[in-house]
Amino acid sequence: MKTKNIGLRGIEVADTRISNIDGEKGRLIYRGYDIVDLTKYSTFEETAYILIYDQLPTTHQLNEFKSKLSDARSIPRQMQRNMSNWRKDADPMDMLQAFVAALAGYYDEEFSTKEASYDRAINLVAKVPTIVSSWQRLRSGEEIIDPDPSLSHAGNFLYMMSGNRPDPEVEKIFDTCLILHADHTFNASTFTARQVASTRAHMYSASSAAIGALSGELHGGANTEVMKMLLEIDKQENVESWVKERLSEGQKIMGMGHAVYKTFDPRAQVLKEMSRRLAAKTGQRWFDMTEGVETTTMSEMKLKKDMDIYPNVDLYSASIYYMLGIPVDLNTPIFAISRSVGWAAHIIEEKFAEAAPKPALYRPKAVYVGKYCGPEGCEYKTIDLRG
Ligand SMILES: CC(C)(COP(=O)(O)OP(=O)(O)OC[C@H]1O[C@@H](n2cnc3c(N)ncnc32)[C@H](O)[C@@H]1OP(=O)(O)O)[C@@H](O)C(=O)NCCC(=O)NCCS
Repeated sequence: MKTKNIGLRGIEVADTRISNIDGEKGRLIYRGYDIVDLTKYSTFEETAYILIYDQLPTTHQLNEFKSKLSDARSIPRQMQRNMSNWRKDADPMDMLQAFVAALAGYYDEEFSTKEASYDRAINLVAKVPTIVSSWQRLRSGEEIIDPDPSLSHAGNFLYMMSGNRPDPEVEKIFDTCLILHADHTFNASTFTARQVASTRAHMYSASSAAIGALSGELHGGANTEVMKMLLEIDKQENVESWVKERLSEGQKIMGMGHAVYKTFDPRAQVLKEMSRRLAAKTGQRWFDMTEGVETTTMSEMKLKKDMDIYPNVDLYSASIYYMLGIPVDLNTPIFAISRSVGWAAHIIEEKFAEAAPKPALYRPKAVYVGKYCGPEGCEYKTIDLRG
């Protein structure tokens, strides 16, 4: 291995004013505000405003932002008809990636100015939940439900997906999940969004690429894998042996470990308490099983590898979404519903940063380890000489 910076770990590539992680202390801040405070005192809409506009909104600004968001929730009927042509077993992340990119084909919009990009950000954040819920209804053979402007972003998504207006506690739990997933510095999907935006590509194009990055199981796809794992384990009494067996085979336990946090991920702690509350409310076993996965993985890793490992954001979000009645393969699209805010903020920062050093087109260097036949290169034989 010649490459020194595999996966760009620890390499500083751009300045950002959007969020910061203290991996040692287990803290995450958005625009200077601790996410734990935001989960206690804010809402998803206000958090989105803070991330996108870099300021706490006044009441008037927040109300205006909320109404712009709810006015932009609908998607074109033609888009819904196009969706209905997809295979019903298509992966919802593939569908989301395609239809976010397609937004540019349905609207004749300006992208080139910072001001216009704020409006595109609102359109993106507003429409992602409608695309996800429309697909959920279509693939289940149900009528698409139009957005309800009287509901919050969180409440409206749950309503469009299920047809039922959520009770306030459920709505608050889901709102908190959206706050917690909204941004996380230069994770794989956000870096993808920034990299695409660095070419001056537009908001929907960069976000669609980010959705592709989020779909992988080492990133956003992990929450879906966590729920599949819990369903496979099935019962509390199977947890310990299941986890030990996987670890002894050298397999990874989804929802555990993090590239940056070297202690508890603060998001996991908030989610853990919500999962505990929901399990107590619904009488379901998923919280206890998840906690069993956490403790067994931690103690086994310590014992066998003398390594500290902690739950990440995906471990407890999986059981929360399941207890909220959300289909398992919508876990990652829900991550995208929230993270679209962070992507939008980063795309704007990448393209329109005013302070030096301004971001540049990303162009890392590769270490070539392929065929080498000398300084003149390899002799090319035409196909007739190759047999
Ligand atoms: C997120 C993740 C990619 C971070 O990786 P990282 O910090 O670069 O750590 P590495 O993948 O290099 O792993 C370091 C060591 O810890 C082990 N490890 C890390 N996460 C593990 C997990 N979830 N289960 C078991 N072992 C794990 C690795 O096997 C490796 O051991 P080794 O040195 O003996 O090979 C990794 O923890 C992981 O794959 N987790 C599961 C997927 C997941 O939940 N992703 C969501 C992230 S928010």
